[in-house]
Amino acid sequence: MAVTPLLIGMPEMRQSSLVVVANRLPIDDSVAPDGACEWRRNPGGLVSALHPLLRHTPATWVGWAGGTGPAPVLPDIDGVRMHSVALSGEDLRDHYEGFANATLWPIYHDAVEQPQHHRRWWDAYLRVNQRFAEATAQVAEAGAVVWVQDYHLQLVPGLLRTLRPDLRIGFFLHVPFPPPELFMQLPRRAELLRGMLGADLVGFQRAQAAHNFAQLVTKVLGLPATDRRIGIEDRVVRIGAFPVSIDTVEMAALADRPDVADRARRLRQDLGSPDQVILSVDRMDYTKGIEQRLKAYSELLAGGHVKVRDTVLVQVAVPSRERVSQYQILRDRVEREVGRINGEFGRVGEPAIHYLTQPFDRAELAALYRIADVMAVTPLRDGMNLVAKEYVAARVDDTGALLLSEFAGAAAELPQAHLVNPHDLEGLKQGLLAALRADPADVRERMRAMRAHLHEHDIRAWARSYLSTLDQTGSMLARLGGD
Ligand code: ADP
Ligand code: F6P
Repeated sequence: MAVTPLLIGMPEMRQSSLVVVANRLPIDDSVAPDGACEWRRNPGGLVSALHPLLRHTPATWVGWAGGTGPAPVLPDIDGVRMHSVALSGEDLRDHYEGFANATLWPIYHDAVEQPQHHRRWWDAYLRVNQRFAEATAQVAEAGAVVWVQDYHLQLVPGLLRTLRPDLRIGFFLHVPFPPPELFMQLPRRAELLRGMLGADLVGFQRAQAAHNFAQLVTKVLGLPATDRRIGIEDRVVRIGAFPVSIDTVEMAALADRPDVADRARRLRQDLGSPDQVILSVDRMDYTKGIEQRLKAYSELLAGGHVKVRDTVLVQVAVPSRERVSQYQILRDRVEREVGRINGEFGRVGEPAIHYLTQPFDRAELAALYRIADVMAVTPLRDGMNLVAKEYVAARVDDTGALLLSEFAGAAAELPQAHLVNPHDLEGLKQGLLAALRADPADVRERMRAMRAHLHEHDIRAWARSYLSTLDQTGSMLARLGGD
């Protein structure tokens, strides 16, 4: 069974040969009265990554359609079968908002917010993972490849293997995988590891994450492991780093479109034609370092290093996980701080920060990337950060400086960015100033190198690399320690 050809959309492939399982379906939660629905790229890395791949590949996507209540029956979109899994109000609260986003998410992001533990959240996590596994077992044809995505569904590989041992199962974690000291806090750490080991291949964004995982399976489960292979019962599980990426060509083509160029010109005028535009685009998440960035900018304004008329900051922060209290608190604090900075440093018609919380379509995002002389991407911890890569892809004229956190997965691939430690306020200020004042020739050289990297390492290269490794696991008579 060759997996790779699926990616080039071989017409004879059936939808059930490749099954992607992810918490969300990439659709609007409103289905039209005639039953039609459309792709919707909700702001978030997972759908952004998978959408360009699956749009042209016959496959089935198993996921939650949004909302609560019975699972809607959905039409295919562009040849992709949408198979929805129901979540009740309680599931949403205890699985998605609870265990996934208030226990795992903070632990996996350096515990920059306090992780919370509730036993009933675990029950919901197990219950929902079981439901996803059963739904997948129903739709996958014999010997199909099933690709399970992200931290919401870490138990699915193990549960699915029990239901359907014939399947080839891959698991990919889009977020960081933490060091043992943090992961060991999880009361259900052994079950979580065993769940992931149900896969034939466990993929991470970075080699360090694979290393953390290998250490943990030995420490917690007593299994023999290297950073490439783990032996469990009569099987070998492959592990490795597969840095996720974007559709580089698509973003570059979009940014190059005349209407997008026009829109960018108008946007710049609307901003008062400043000398320099700094842009940040984040989900409203405490991992993204928004508060630290605002503080750095505010201090640069207070110190007279940047002036409102010459330089503007555009901060896009689309609300996320709005019922989780840490997210509500963050939004309140960010909005208070934006108000304070604008009150203190803005003038009539000239705010210091243009603050936007709306989701934008791709063309508008591309226009924003085009006007950004400096793109500030400074998360405290991030699995990858696709925004950084989108910005680079959009800079078709090789201009623009990327200020990038060392703690974003993207930093390992884009060393030509201005790298900063977002916890170091002085370093953050200096980094921002260095990006604003960079010599144009230096800017061009850095941007050219980053763009070249992304042209080679795009989303198709990611999927090819992951799926061909998964493909090899079937025929592999792998032994621990060998390769
Ligand atoms: P995360 O997965 O944590 O949200 P990423 O940076 O990896 O972070 O991915 C975010 C994705 O969401 C990107 O593809 C980005 O273009 C998109 N996005 C972010 N903000 C918006 C917005 N306001 N409107 C539309 N898309 C957005
Ligand atoms: O990358 C982490 C992630 O949870 C993705 O799975 C998702 O695309 C994104 O963040 C947005 O999160 P949510 O699905 O909770 O809106």
